[in-house]
Amino acid sequence: MDNVLSDAPVLPDMIGYCDVMRDVYRLTRQAAPTQATVLLTGETGTGKELIARAVHELSNRATGPFIRVNCGALSESLLESELFGHTKGAFTSAHENRTGRFEAAHGGTIFLDEINSVSYKLQVKLLRVLQEHEFERVGDTRTIQVDCRVIAATNRDLLDLVEEGTFREDLYYRLNVIPIDIPPLRERADDIPALVDYFVERYSKLNNKKISTTDRQAMNCMQKYSWPGNVRELQNYIERAIVFSQGEVLEEKLFPPHVRGLAPVRTTRSSGKNLEDLCRDLVTKGMVENANADGVLHQRIVSLVEKELIFQVLQMSQGTQTKAATKLGINRNTLHKKIDDYQLGDVQ
Ligand SMILES: Nc1ncnc2c1ncn2[C@@H]1O[C@H](COP(=O)(O)OP(=O)(O)O)[C@@H](O)[C@H]1O
Ligand SMILES: [Mg+2]
Repeated sequence: MDNVLSDAPVLPDMIGYCDVMRDVYRLTRQAAPTQATVLLTGETGTGKELIARAVHELSNRATGPFIRVNCGALSESLLESELFGHTKGAFTSAHENRTGRFEAAHGGTIFLDEINSVSYKLQVKLLRVLQEHEFERVGDTRTIQVDCRVIAATNRDLLDLVEEGTFREDLYYRLNVIPIDIPPLRERADDIPALVDYFVERYSKLNNKKISTTDRQAMNCMQKYSWPGNVRELQNYIERAIVFSQGEVLEEKLFPPHVRGLAPVRTTRSSGKNLEDLCRDLVTKGMVENANADGVLHQRIVSLVEKELIFQVLQMSQGTQTKAATKLGINRNTLHKKIDDYQLGDVQ
């Protein structure tokens, strides 16, 4: 049995020994054996899914199923039937009865990733499952009881969304029983060398390469870079560097210029991209294939373009919203709301 007070990493493939991560491991161990709902917060790529798995594996539900649902990837109606299931004929494409993910998680754990993107209507249904452990399939009146532990993750501050009026306060409190915040990688730069070594070994093996060391300059630049995509971004750049490497040492030149401090850092929030780049991103990140037929793709593109336009105009106006609203030809309240929606509040 894992010692509840231990602050060692909670999974064999979890790397990182700095104090903030030790706190995360300790909390994870304390939360795991209970039935309490865990709310994981942190930027994308920080390791929320790993922690969710650890909570499950260290609990007495470990032999039961672990079911992950990405709430951000599906439209409202698809997500509803994914979570709760549907009966044959409930809607035009419902040709068969279908079991939902909550039923599939019976006896185990359900991990609701990107819970911040759940619509207001579905939030009501979720609240009921959390409180009463029961729900109905779409198109059915029969009530189903489930026994599953809920873990949720968000990369946005849910309290901000509560204030904006897009997230129910009661659901927030019901989810936020045990909050675990995973800090961004730039706040745990001491862990970067161990993570680099770990991924170098893993991808060298996978690609039949003989790389065993990383040169000092390469390691330095990785410790200095801000990693907006966190561990996932680090992992991807190392994989790519290994694939392109020819010698036995991982060198700085194998990393892209912005990681080496030779070009501005590009994040998804303030992109400075042109439209062609934006569209290319949509295709390469698989967003086009993943979008479903009911207008999600169109909405995404419109949002991306709108966000970018507002970002550019705000920069031009040095963050003065009245000026920006006049330039955009929209009223100031509308602009204010959009700035909130797109998290552009700190653009100057
Ligand atoms: N501390 C860590 N040690 C090793 N790998 C990690 C660590 N944190 C994250 N990863 C890896 O980084 C990627 C992103 O992690 P994930 O848990 O999916 O992040 P999130 O859910 O916060 O977006 C995964 O491939 C995961 O295995
Ligand atoms: Mg994730």
